[in-house]
Amino acid sequence: MKKLLCLGMIVVMAVVGLCGCGADKADYLVLVNKSNLIDSGFVDTIELVEVGTVYDSTAQIEAKALAAYEDLKAALLNEGVEIGIDSGYRSVEKQEQIMAEFTEKYGEEYAKKTVAVPGTSEHHTGLAIDIVPKVDGEWVVENEDMMKETEVFAVIHEKLAKYGFIIRYPEGKEDITGYSYEPWHLRYVGVSAAKKISAKGITLEEYLSK
Ligand code: DAL
Ligand code: ZN
Repeated sequence: MKKLLCLGMIVVMAVVGLCGCGADKADYLVLVNKSNLIDSGFVDTIELVEVGTVYDSTAQIEAKALAAYEDLKAALLNEGVEIGIDSGYRSVEKQEQIMAEFTEKYGEEYAKKTVAVPGTSEHHTGLAIDIVPKVDGEWVVENEDMMKETEVFAVIHEKLAKYGFIIRYPEGKEDITGYSYEPWHLRYVGVSAAKKISAKGITLEEYLSK
């Protein structure tokens, strides 16, 4: 019996080893939106890695998405554009805090339009990154200021698909995504899907419904 138990344990350990100890089982095409809430177990399927933000603080981002982001950042630097991280993974509690801050700062109407109800934010997946660009030596961190940086964001957006990212809330697709245009909110979906989504000019919702 002891021998059998031992054998069983060896088999389990071998299977876990082959699977990479549970890491990299993430569903890179996971859909989280107003009608698709995050599965509370999703965070256990991903490997979160800590990274510095532009605020002297840290964020956590899914390992593959972060590696792709670093490659994107390096490619953009070659074009003379610098980007930094504003926000990555958020727990439901963190999203509640952001909703409260936005409501206090900008009012309930604006907060509801721009911040996802806790439990429905893509940031719960670890696959979404809010970026900020550096312009004339300064990080542009306010949403309304970023909206004016159309040329800088055009350079950034042109490079996204090659590194597996999409603009999750594109202009003109508000009725599908449920959110107004956010040039800063990148979503990692992997290179193949990103190239198809970008070439067709569609949203993740439309891509997944086909
Ligand atoms: N700004 C996006 C919609 C979020 O809060 O997840
Ligand atoms: Zn975001």
